[in-house]
Amino acid sequence: MQTKKGRMIYEGKAKKIYNTADSGLYIQHFKDDATAFNAKKRGTIVNKGIMNNKISERLFTLLESKGVPTHFVKRLNDRDMLVKRLEIIPVEVVIRNVIAGSMSKRLGVEEGTKVKKPILEFYYKKDELDDPLVNDDTVIALEWATLSELKTIRSMALKVNRTLRSYLDKRGIILVDFKLEFGRNNGQILLGDEICPDTCRFWDKKTMEKMDKDRFRRDLGKVEEAYQEVCRRVCE
Ligand code: TMP
Repeated sequence: MQTKKGRMIYEGKAKKIYNTADSGLYIQHFKDDATAFNAKKRGTIVNKGIMNNKISERLFTLLESKGVPTHFVKRLNDRDMLVKRLEIIPVEVVIRNVIAGSMSKRLGVEEGTKVKKPILEFYYKKDELDDPLVNDDTVIALEWATLSELKTIRSMALKVNRTLRSYLDKRGIILVDFKLEFGRNNGQILLGDEICPDTCRFWDKKTMEKMDKDRFRRDLGKVEEAYQEVCRRVCE
């Protein structure tokens, strides 16, 4: 049976979420819209939605095969993915293997500095506040997640890092950093959202060229080409 889109229940900067006839399932639709700096900068990356849908499908499937539970059910077509319904935890989990982006700015550490142990950070998912950095105690005290949920999230995020790093390394890509989102589904914590060049920093292992949304954020050009190359290396 074909899964049909019901009412749109949420529109984000890069995706739309629709109901389906099954109350336990949503359709996640990937748009070409690109934003940066909390939507102060806006643009379009041609066919980004199609590529992010495919890249996310491949990476969610890989993670499931390694025992990381995710919301992914199946890719329905070019831009739509069937996912399990989640009660989203309002925390963005960032893992960094190499210092870049906001951490480089905030701490004055040169971009490209490697760290021996991955750094895990939490940001409160709140556009009006520009997603501020928070710590574990804040997440627990404000009841965004329990201590036990946070332990699960931490160990899942580190496993995602190990799995993706090794998969990407074989494809000539350095996983610099990335952002994950988690949610609850029948009492279980599942990895949600998407994993793609919008939400990760990917550097080419040989040339150190950026192959992710930083090309759009920083006006580096060849944005579509970078997404296509990641799609080719990850999915083939
Ligand atoms: P940052 O260095 O700007 O904090 O970003 C860290 C990682 O998180 C990077 O891989 C890009 C990703 N990210 C998102 O997915 N969404 C966001 O809104 C931001 C700011 C970063």
